[in-house]
Amino acid sequence: MKNFTNYTVYDKKENYHDDTKVVHGALGHDPITGAISFPIFQSSTYRHIGVKENTNFNYSRIINPTREEFERTMALLDHGCDAFAVSSGMAAVSLVLTMLKSKEHILISDDVYGGTVRACTETLKNNGVTYTQVDFTDLEEVKRNTQDNTKMMLIETPTNPMMKVADIKKIAEFAHTQGITVVVDNTFLTSYFQKPLDLGADIVIYSATKYIAGHNDVLAGVVVVKTEEQRDYLKTQNAIFGACLSPMDSWLALRGLKTLALRMEKHNSNAKKIAEFLRNHPKVKKVYYVGFEDHPEYEITLKETTGFGGMISFELDSISTLNKFLEKLNLILFAESLGGVESLVTHPASRTHTEVSEEIRKKLGITDTLLRLSVGIENPEDLINDLKNALED
Ligand SMILES: Cc1ncc(COP(=O)(O)O)c(C=O)c1O
Repeated sequence: MKNFTNYTVYDKKENYHDDTKVVHGALGHDPITGAISFPIFQSSTYRHIGVKENTNFNYSRIINPTREEFERTMALLDHGCDAFAVSSGMAAVSLVLTMLKSKEHILISDDVYGGTVRACTETLKNNGVTYTQVDFTDLEEVKRNTQDNTKMMLIETPTNPMMKVADIKKIAEFAHTQGITVVVDNTFLTSYFQKPLDLGADIVIYSATKYIAGHNDVLAGVVVVKTEEQRDYLKTQNAIFGACLSPMDSWLALRGLKTLALRMEKHNSNAKKIAEFLRNHPKVKKVYYVGFEDHPEYEITLKETTGFGGMISFELDSISTLNKFLEKLNLILFAESLGGVESLVTHPASRTHTEVSEEIRKKLGITDTLLRLSVGIENPEDLINDLKNALED
């Protein structure tokens, strides 16, 4: 038995499987008292031992033991060097974007979370950074749109809501020949199903509001870095940016994370059944699901991930079917967000993707009859019955 006596020395548990790592975390339990549930250190500041001497903790915007436990656990799961837990997924996106300087250029997915597009149009633009949206499933398109000043690629895979899958390995190989940093938003699959750093990416970001915390009760974001150089740069930016995750929310995220493996397996198996049901329903025109063998990037999914996740998008046959469907759903809730234990359905065209230009929405297929379903962990028969009932005349 290891005898830890402070919060600095910890066992990284690198040799355990992910379903063990999520339960036991980095330190796992409190090294001083032995408390099994990692304590919530609800303190903004820390008493110094003496001049130039402290406990390794000084001020909670910079460092907090509860947040650090969550950060170390996330880094452990993604095989990163370190992680930063911030107050939302958008804070994670914004923190990473501080790596770009005036006159530089970024490539982002064409089918990306609307908030990320807004960060490019409303913030990066003001800082003199330009961006181009590309289809990361098409390496030639990526190459064509890479400029001499391109410094970053921000990839979402699978994409939101069209479920396109990028080949992280191939993109990273190309990007690194050009000195470009590859960032992957891994919100949909999490490190449990996809490990972008192992595939060659440089940085991973999460809206931990979704599967990581998993219970629709906390907003959080995480940035996992691969190198000490990235860590040192972002540590300074993060201290300035100040959007650190609170101790209570860090604890909620840690607590949610403990069941990540169980939840992801159940999301995955439920989604498979529901995707099949939807595909065979006469009022459903098209289903977008990465687990279908005829999905255009199915081979990449098999190569780069260990599961399909719980996200499905589908197109209904008319607006009137869509309106009735949303009205009649009972168990599945019409609400934004995803990745929690409760099944949620949203309407991208009017909710999550209003920031995406109409031209791109049209090109991608984000029509007014498209819905995105985040399959929860309820009994699949109950979910299918709810869908069946809502689709009945
Ligand atoms: C893929 C993805 N990235 C980032 C975000 C932003 O996360 P948050 O809402 O936690 O700020 C979202 C939110 O829906 C998302 O779906």
